[in-house]
Amino acid sequence: MQDLLRTLTAPDDLLPEDWFAHPPRLETPRLILRRAVMRDAQDVFAYASDPEVARYVLWEAHRTIGDSRHLLRCLLREYREGRPSNFVIEEKSSGHVIGTIGYMNWKPENASVEVGYSLARDCWGRGLATEALGAVLRHSFENLKVHRVEALHDVRNPASGRVMEKCGMKKEGVVRACARNKGEWVDAALWAILAEDWRE
Ligand SMILES: CC(C)(COP(=O)(O)OP(=O)(O)OC[C@H]1O[C@@H](n2cnc3c(N)ncnc32)[C@H](O)[C@@H]1OP(=O)(O)O)[C@@H](O)C(=O)NCCC(=O)NCCS
Repeated sequence: MQDLLRTLTAPDDLLPEDWFAHPPRLETPRLILRRAVMRDAQDVFAYASDPEVARYVLWEAHRTIGDSRHLLRCLLREYREGRPSNFVIEEKSSGHVIGTIGYMNWKPENASVEVGYSLARDCWGRGLATEALGAVLRHSFENLKVHRVEALHDVRNPASGRVMEKCGMKKEGVVRACARNKGEWVDAALWAILAEDWRE
């Protein structure tokens, strides 16, 4: 379908909603970011069932593989409906899915979108989230042609802020008690990058 779309329409004519419906395959030196498929469930369960991975995100650690299948069904529905969604992150060396990265809170009137990501614990500290976020920012500005990309992280999770910083995002402040995570209100640091920052 994606190939068909490309032959019928020049990429420049595609709207963000078209890209959400047909996520392209993004490649970095060590990763492939691609649309999710149901057979990713086992890999997703392997990392999403780890409470440490879920600690600072707004979803609960998966208790059964049924939770991972439910997540994947949600992603497939978002693609079908042309809504902002996630790529799965596949590590080239192992062929395994090691995380997700993607979009939420698309605001067409402001051409702004929020990004978020999660990675398997045994992959942390190798620069992989930075590599994945860099690819998604490139896609956001070069293909979706957004004006602003935002990201938020729990203030107790500075590694995530460091990933944003390494990708050229700027910290804009702390949004107090803006989200409820596992029973408690949390403060979140707000980061963003504008198209003009990206061009520089
Ligand atoms: C946050 C997360 C995505 C980082 O992924 P990663 O692949 O380890 O990130 P990178 O290796 O690209 O970069 C991490 C950076 O944070 C730094 N870092 C790690 N722990 C840190 C801490 N406690 N304080 C400050 N910086 C820290 C690392 O040193 C590295 O920076 P450097 O390259 O300058 O040394 C990963 O830990 C994760 O998936 N966590 C669980 C889900 C999650 O919290 N997602 C973010 C939601 S906003």
